[in-house]
Parts: sequence; C-alpha cells; structure tokens
Amino acid sequence: MKRIVILISGRGSNMEAIVRSCAEQGWAAQVVAVIANRPAAAGLAYAAERGIATAVVDHQLHARRADFDAALAHAVDSFAPDLLVLAGFMRILGAPFVQRYQGRMLNIHPSLLPAFPGLHTHQRALEAGCKAVGATVHFVTPELDHGPIVMQSVVPVRPADDAAALAARVLATEHTIYPLAARWFIEDKLRVANGLVTQTDGASQVLL
Ligand code: GRF
Repeated sequence: MKRIVILISGRGSNMEAIVRSCAEQGWAAQVVAVIANRPAAAGLAYAAERGIATAVVDHQLHARRADFDAALAHAVDSFAPDLLVLAGFMRILGAPFVQRYQGRMLNIHPSLLPAFPGLHTHQRALEAGCKAVGATVHFVTPELDHGPIVMQSVVPVRPADDAAALAARVLATEHTIYPLAARWFIEDKLRVANGLVTQTDGASQVLL
C-alpha cells in the first residue's frame, strides 16, 4: 500500500475527493494523514471522522518561513509518504522543502497554467477576456505554480459569469482531475521527461 499525505489550508474539498476516490475505487494506496497550516481548517474534521490521522503545523507560530517549512517537513516525514498532495494549501514552500519531495509532490491550481499563476485567477481571466478557463494538476517545483503539467480541465466562460460562478464550475472539474492524477501517480503511470508529463496508457490528460 502506498502512502498519501495531503496538505490543506481550509475547506478541503479536493482532499475529500481524493479520500473518497481512493477508498471507493480501491487504489493500492491509503490517505494516511491530512496536515493543515491552520488549526481552523474545516477539512480536518472530515479527515478525523474517517479515521485519518490529522496534524496542524501552524504557520503563525513560526516567524521565519524556513522554520515553518522545517516543522512541516518533520510532520510530513513522520507519515512516510510516497505521494504528497497539496490541496488548497495556501503557503508558499521554500526550495529546500520542495526539493525534498520533488517528483512525488502534486498541486492543483485553478487556472490553465502557465496562464495566471498566483491568486484571483478567475477574476484575472475574466478581465483578460478569456473564453475558457480551467484547472491544472502539476508536479511541484520551486517556482510557484509551475512544474510539469499532469492534467488540465477546460471550462467555457459564459457571458453572465462572474468570478464566483467560474470558481464553482472549475472546482467541480478539480474534483475529477485531481483524484485521477493522484491515482495515475500511485499506479506509476506518469513519466516526466524534459519537463513534460505523459501518461503511460495514453489516457487523455485533458478534461473537456
Ligand atoms: C481550489 O480551487 C484549488 O485549486 C486552489 O484552492 C482551492 C482549494 O479548495 N488551490 P479546497 O480546499 O480543495 O476545497
């Protein structure tokens, strides 16, 4: 059984989607821990109710980012993950942390990367006149919201859409593509070469 650790900061709906898919689809893996950087992260309760270990590494208790990263790495390592999943984890991680888990750490970002890294992606896409938006699952590299792209979802923009409407429709697709990408990793079906990710079965890496 491979071991998955998920990092969250809040609601944790992507974490829920992965926990559910892992259990219902019988992956050869187990979500062994959910770790939050905020004690109030709502997703912690969901994990605890399902008997998953939870931990909090509160960023507010660490003045320097390097100290927070070290405490977080200590907590993560105590669960010996094969895969580390960032699911709405809203802290920037320093290069030493990222390098420690490089190649086995995934993130989801609510835009069609490399467009719109960072925050407020849906509002920025609307202001740019984008006709489609989406979400991206990618391997984490030290540069924020970059890294080899595993899978993307594409969501058309409708004339009446505001940022909240787009966020809701994109989030629904995140709940499909993130579990799928995590499952591919667990099943060793992802290959990275020259920064490009292929799926060994030739499965589509885009959800339209
Ligand atoms: C998602 O939109 C994710 O793409 C972004 O933050 C949000 C987290 O939502 N990184 P949740 O906590 O998984 O519900």
